[in-house]
Amino acid sequence: MTDPASRTAGPKSVFIKTYGCQMNVYDSDRMADALAAQGYVAAESAEAADLVLLNTCHIREKASEKVFSEIGRLTEIRDGRRAAGVADLMIGITGCVAQAEGEEIVRRAPEVDFVVGPQSYHHLPELVAKAAGRERFATRRETAAAATRAGLVSTDFAIAEKFESLPLPTRAATIARGLTAFLTVQEGCDKFCSFCVVPYTRGSEVSRPVEQVLREAEALVDAGVLELTLLGQNVNAYHGVDAQGRPVGLGELLRRLAALPGLRRLRYTTSHPRDMDDALIEAHRDLDKLMPYLHLPVQSGSDRVLKAMNRRHTRDDYLRLIERIKTVRPDMALSGDFIVGFPGETDAEFEETLSLVREVGYASAYTFKYSTRPGTPGAGFPGQVEEAVKSERLDRLLALTTEQMRSFGRACVGRTLDVLLEKPGRLAGQLGGRSPYLQAVHVEAPAGLMGTIQRVEITGAGNNSISGKIVTDTEHRTASLVESVAG
Ligand code: SAH
Ligand code: SF4
Ligand code: F3S
Repeated sequence: MTDPASRTAGPKSVFIKTYGCQMNVYDSDRMADALAAQGYVAAESAEAADLVLLNTCHIREKASEKVFSEIGRLTEIRDGRRAAGVADLMIGITGCVAQAEGEEIVRRAPEVDFVVGPQSYHHLPELVAKAAGRERFATRRETAAAATRAGLVSTDFAIAEKFESLPLPTRAATIARGLTAFLTVQEGCDKFCSFCVVPYTRGSEVSRPVEQVLREAEALVDAGVLELTLLGQNVNAYHGVDAQGRPVGLGELLRRLAALPGLRRLRYTTSHPRDMDDALIEAHRDLDKLMPYLHLPVQSGSDRVLKAMNRRHTRDDYLRLIERIKTVRPDMALSGDFIVGFPGETDAEFEETLSLVREVGYASAYTFKYSTRPGTPGAGFPGQVEEAVKSERLDRLLALTTEQMRSFGRACVGRTLDVLLEKPGRLAGQLGGRSPYLQAVHVEAPAGLMGTIQRVEITGAGNNSISGKIVTDTEHRTASLVESVAG
């Protein structure tokens, strides 16, 4: 058997498997950066890695259960290596399941070497070193107890420290990650919707200081990033302080970021309807770089259900907010999250969700069956809805939102949109890009245009994407001439 301590010697590789939301995607990159600073290189797969991190999601039951089956698979790989006497495999669990069930994980799966929650990622290199030097025990119970004693379960809430301590990505790493990047500006949630685990896994709301955000954005843009998506569980509740100690909201932060010369596009997600203030709405009016696409979850169209969910807004508040946004930005495309089968939801209340969806008309939507989460108030609510009813409601809602998404795509045909060409296309002679409305666009374009934003005439709309061809300068001039003559 390989001596566990020998794992500290020589070049090591890490494979990070990411579940859940964009913040986990961002965190995985930051963990890779922290490990790169310790000499770790990226592995192609778990099979090829010395260290595997499962960056987990706790939001719904299915998401968190996946973790244990994946640990089982990794343990088999490790046992195979040990039997063959080749290099060992270290397994670390990170993310929201790690935060919520840290000790439970080492009890249920003592094969795990360490557990680290989202607020403690700056401790990662230390944990890896500790786990590498750790003694192995004969029984699972001994192993689990020792892991906890040895401080191999790290789930403190120390977000500010985390952001100060984690290294920025290197220029080479940013270039390898492409033209679009995520940047977490706010983490945690104080809203406590009665169905949701996030306030427990990510802690209370913390905003990063303005200068820290600007420095990170500059480094990304300097390495060629054209489109930046600011992230937060409640990103529009952002309230950082600037170098003068003044409070800055998301609208103002976006203005400062929009002033970065090389940056072409800005987005942000996820917003809560209660935190959409005037300054943010005005940013949509004033900033060309801010894309006309807004993910604004509503969860339900029924006031009674919204109240039980502790959303602290009504259906009407939401609709009026959309009206205000559309007044300043008439082409704003909306996206939403919806939960069906919340405890006590009646057929009539579900119909109100359908009618809200019809009233708003979404460009995209994420629909979920309510999943009972331990520790949340909703778990104890009466009237838990049967699985079959949830499934039937989900199918109906999904049919509606899918049709809306496709009809949004069809409505783009004939329009000219700015498309960020970011990757090779499906077919030869094509590039893959994204529209201002976050649609996937297949564009007839030479490979040399990769990494640019082009005017694209949309000529087709498929089920999940749209397609088009680049408007050449002459065509563009002719088209604008026709428009001005017609106008
Ligand atoms: N902070 C964001 C997103 C949180 S999680 C927000 O406030 O909207 C993303 C989505 O998962 C939520 O919007 C909700 O639609 C869904 N979700 C959260 N908890 C859930 C649960 N217990 N069951 C089903 N869906 C859930
Ligand atoms: Fe969860 Fe609600 Fe917070 Fe969103 S606002 S993260 S749904 S508690
Ligand atoms: Fe999942 Fe945590 Fe994100 S629970 S959705 S990974 S904040």
